[in-house]
Amino acid sequence: MKTLILFSTRDGQTREIASYISSELKELGVESDVVNLHRCEDIAWANYDRVIIGASIRYGHFHASVEAFVKKHQLQLKERASAFFAVNLVARKPEKRSPQTNPYTRKFLLNSVWQPDHCAVFAGALRYPRYGWLDRFMIRLIMKMTDGETDTSKEVVYTDWQQVARFAHEIAQLSTK
Ligand SMILES: Cc1cc2nc3c(=O)[nH]c(=O)nc-3n(C[C@H](O)[C@H](O)[C@H](O)COP(=O)(O)O)c2cc1C
Repeated sequence: MKTLILFSTRDGQTREIASYISSELKELGVESDVVNLHRCEDIAWANYDRVIIGASIRYGHFHASVEAFVKKHQLQLKERASAFFAVNLVARKPEKRSPQTNPYTRKFLLNSVWQPDHCAVFAGALRYPRYGWLDRFMIRLIMKMTDGETDTSKEVVYTDWQQVARFAHEIAQLSTK
């Protein structure tokens, strides 16, 4: 049996985190498949005893497909050991990096029909040069208001990879259902 790692990304950071989790799991002897949540038509659920969903935030929201996926597959999710991780820039502040203190994750868990067995919040990446002018302008405004990086020539990865590795270890220890 394998672990299914589904990711919802816009700029690639959540995919990178998903791949990192996969490689950490491999070192622990747990095989996994990393799959784009936006492009998965038929999932061979019988192959998986654990499932992880990771999703990023854009303008205050996870992609609508995440909630739709969870609703559609809630039975399959509930039947398996499961985990969720959220990726956003608010989480660059350590006090906003837990499921209870991160506003997007807290709201997601409050409203979700699926309650994962384990949950984490990771800081994402700020990649000004890759954004269109409007996004760059908006993100810079938000960064200015929240004492963040405002130099638009910069790319900053805030993800704490040791935290991601710890998460992978915790997933490996989840007892299967
Ligand atoms: C247009 C845009 C809007 C964003 N909005 C938010 C936001 O509302 N709150 C937040 O904490 N992070 C926000 N972020 C930061 C992203 O969550 C962060 O860059 C994350 O790493 C993106 O992950 P992805 O590359 O997997 O999509 C935003 C980023 C972009 C580019």
